[in-house]
Amino acid sequence: MSTDSTTAVATGDPSSVHRGAPAGEPLLAATDLVAGYLPGVDILSGCNLVVHPGELVGIIGPNGAGKSTLLKALFGLVTIRSGTVTLKGEDITNNAADALVRRGVGFVPQNNNVFPSLSIEENLQMGLYQAPKKWAERFEFIVDLFPTLGERRGQRAGSLSGGERQMVAMARALMMNPSVLLLDEPSAGLSPVRQDETFIRTRKINRAGVSIVIVEQNARRCLQICDRAYVLDQGRNAYSGPGRQLMNDPKVIELYLGTLATDVETATTKPDLLPGSSTPPTP
Ligand SMILES: Nc1ncnc2c1ncn2[C@@H]1O[C@H](COP(=O)(O)OP(=O)(O)OP(=O)(O)O)[C@@H](O)[C@H]1O
Ligand SMILES: [Mg+2]
Repeated sequence: MSTDSTTAVATGDPSSVHRGAPAGEPLLAATDLVAGYLPGVDILSGCNLVVHPGELVGIIGPNGAGKSTLLKALFGLVTIRSGTVTLKGEDITNNAADALVRRGVGFVPQNNNVFPSLSIEENLQMGLYQAPKKWAERFEFIVDLFPTLGERRGQRAGSLSGGERQMVAMARALMMNPSVLLLDEPSAGLSPVRQDETFIRTRKINRAGVSIVIVEQNARRCLQICDRAYVLDQGRNAYSGPGRQLMNDPKVIELYLGTLATDVETATTKPDLLPGSSTPPTP
């Protein structure tokens, strides 16, 4: 790896905030976001993020860094005090969640993301309540992506496993055909095998043409699948860059990934988990 680190502390240097981002107009852009819950207490203190069409962008960082708050701010669930959010160049700052869904933003919160007493099919219908006439077309898209959901459409969501519920939650958010999907810790609470399935599913949705922002505690796995990632720390950008570069950056490893476990080497040999399966592993 080059000694000229490909990542950088972003604060105070706008040119380094979005390392590795493609050129052109972003699909989604958050600029200098300041947001919080209690008066006078900012949780996000000038956060920046861009997502380009087709990208899978990860957000990692320590507990309490503001990752969920950032997603909630993008989705109109936490008031943005200053800064802007744009979607396809249009200002969507502080738009309400239902308006954002209509405009093509989907959100899957970490918890309570399915209606347990409803069937899989009814959960999917809830995701399409703003455009019920599109049911046949969207249901076909979902079943194509996740055949299990079609086979088990009548099953109550509350009787599903954690991983299956996560699939329903993602599918529900996909019903409105979003151009960008915001996922908050989809692998949380799942066994390692189910976590892998969730990451593979996330990649599959992305390959179907949906841009994704994924917040993850499982930082290594997240960096393996994403095109680019941001490290948030105390409500600010700390590092950014292509997922695999961050994964190999000594500073990021030291501060955010812990010791470099051998499973990273193993994981990099699994092409299906990597962005762009034709990319050769780093020597
Ligand atoms: N509803 C709320 N009211 C007040 N403070 C909140 C609320 N939700 C979160 N916070 C605070 O905001 C800060 C950032 O929380 P947030 O949930 O965004 O962090 P996170 O990076 O997602 O952490 P984790 O990795 O644990 O999910 C924390 O200090 C938290 O206590
Ligand atoms: Mg969180």
